Amino acid sequence: MRLYKKINQIKKSIQKYKRERKIIGFVPTMGYLHKGHLSLIKIARKKADILVVSIFVNPTQFGPGEDFSRYPRNMERDLGLLEKEDVDMVFYPAIKEMYSEGFETFVEVKELSRVMCGKSRPDHFRGVTTVVLKLFNIVEPDFAVFGKKDFQQAVIIKRMVKDLNLPIRIFTGPIIREPDGLAMSSRNTYLNQTERKNATVLFKSLKWAKNAYNNGVIDSKKIIQKMKKMIKNSGGQIDYVVAVDKNSLKPVRTLKKGTLIAVAVYFGKTRLIDNILL
Ligand code: PAF
Repeated sequence: MRLYKKINQIKKSIQKYKRERKIIGFVPTMGYLHKGHLSLIKIARKKADILVVSIFVNPTQFGPGEDFSRYPRNMERDLGLLEKEDVDMVFYPAIKEMYSEGFETFVEVKELSRVMCGKSRPDHFRGVTTVVLKLFNIVEPDFAVFGKKDFQQAVIIKRMVKDLNLPIRIFTGPIIREPDGLAMSSRNTYLNQTERKNATVLFKSLKWAKNAYNNGVIDSKKIIQKMKKMIKNSGGQIDYVVAVDKNSLKPVRTLKKGTLIAVAVYFGKTRLIDNILL
């Protein structure tokens, strides 16, 4: 496994593999890796000749007052995990390497970035798409893998790839959960014992919704109302509970196959997201 901090160095190695017609797979991460990340890396490993993983806590996707400075980091542990997954190249640039002085160019996927998480985190997706496009330009992957937990992020990235004619295939990997159903996330480490226990209501409410739909309830209002009640009763402070079309992310009144039910909820100061596809 080779480690790269500098853009020109990783680009040089990538160019060599490109000349050899190797298939380059890419999994971008912000580090503090858990089984969710590792499952994406395993998907990519099967398809790639050369597997690149990036670790970069991207400042432009955090809003003022969000958790950029306290976002968990553990490079040594991450590198150990990546080595075990047979990753070929790790790119872990410093902030200055990615955002040099005078940086002022952003790429934005307009409407899709304004709904759901975009309402309470207005510049978040602009930061994500900008850094992902930069990483794509640096790594030049044939494909990249993103997690379905960040469903909106994956939809936005697919849109960007299509709109900007990037020659990159985007795959998504399933949500990986703790034994009690909580979706794996680096942010779970912020939760105290009570919050951690309460947070299991997210998956419980999503499972309840899917079950209700399977039993014939198709009125999204009814489902959302009941989910909100369940979540509030478990101490969650709701940012949103929505039922949306899985491609347009537009709200739907009537649930059907392909409807995405998604939640963003605070437990204490920690904002968690989760979703289920009908
Ligand atoms: O999903 C993440 O961890 C980040 O948003 C990403 C895609 C690595 C961009 O910083």
